[in-house]
Amino acid sequence: MKNAFIVFCSPAGSTGHVARVIAHSLEEKSIAVHLLDLGAGENLSRFLGLLKAAEADDCLFVGSPVYRDMAISTVMAFLGGLPATKGCMTVPFITWGGVNSGIALWQMGQVLQNKGYALAGAAKVLGVHSLMWQSDRPVGQGHPDTADDRQVRMLVDKVVERTKNMKPDTLPLTVLDYQLEEISTDIKNKLDQPWTIIPKTVDEEKCTKCGTCAEVCPVEAVSLDPVPVFDENCFDCFNCIRECPEEAIAPTLTLDKIEAMIRKRVETFNERPPTQIFT
Ligand SMILES: Cc1cc2nc3c(=O)[nH]c(=O)nc-3n(C[C@H](O)[C@H](O)[C@H](O)COP(=O)(O)O)c2cc1C
Ligand code: SF4
Ligand code: SF4
Repeated sequence: MKNAFIVFCSPAGSTGHVARVIAHSLEEKSIAVHLLDLGAGENLSRFLGLLKAAEADDCLFVGSPVYRDMAISTVMAFLGGLPATKGCMTVPFITWGGVNSGIALWQMGQVLQNKGYALAGAAKVLGVHSLMWQSDRPVGQGHPDTADDRQVRMLVDKVVERTKNMKPDTLPLTVLDYQLEEISTDIKNKLDQPWTIIPKTVDEEKCTKCGTCAEVCPVEAVSLDPVPVFDENCFDCFNCIRECPEEAIAPTLTLDKIEAMIRKRVETFNERPPTQIFT
């Protein structure tokens, strides 16, 4: 492998952390790394131009958080627009908040395979639940931690080894369909359902129109008019709510209620292991 391409979206930072661990690991092996953060308005066409020239032993790493059991819309939209490859390996990776990692890896792997990418590995990594920043004991607290990072580096080692073979063996997509059948079928049935946005209200007395909420939105769904209004691209990452210095934005489904729902679902699924690499 001479070139590695890492594309990810990470509203709250955990997926970005994993992306950087992958990048450092590859750079230590003198592999050129091209990184694209989909939430940061970076140059997509330049990235795709470089990817077009990828060789069969190069690798595209794609990272997404798990939202409502699936990969997030920005990552799936990127994959939808990804040109087919004549030969390149791929590694999807996800971070999840300890509730259920759902079918995100399978979803991403399926599109990548359909576009001709050969599955060289995958990872699911536990991250702190990004809707629980106000909680004393958020689910996944402290993750990804150094043990998670170690597993991610092991994955990179194995993928790099694999690409050294003249005819590298690849993983079947079925390894990414690891949920119990009833859970997986249930989630797959929801795939075509539109995202129901949680409405948000703005306290006009508190809002100073500073614009922070618009700056931190990964999908440019906030405009100031003169206080923030949210458009249909919102996928409820809650960055605007978390980062507002005046605590002027509130979801109509309160954070307490969300926390209670999350804790109940954690008990229902009890998914293990929290972090896993697929090689
Ligand atoms: C809207 C939303 C939905 C989420 N849904 C799930 C879920 O279904 N299962 C889960 O385990 N974690 C869920 N999470 C938690 C995130 O997957 C987890 O915190 C992830 O590491 C966030 O990645 P980031 O820090 O890169 O944004 C959700 C978070 C948000 C904001
Ligand atoms: S970050 Fe808060 S205070 Fe600033 S514009 Fe947005 S809602 Fe208003
Ligand atoms: S409007 Fe707020 S909650 Fe919606 S995507 Fe943007 S930052 Fe996230």
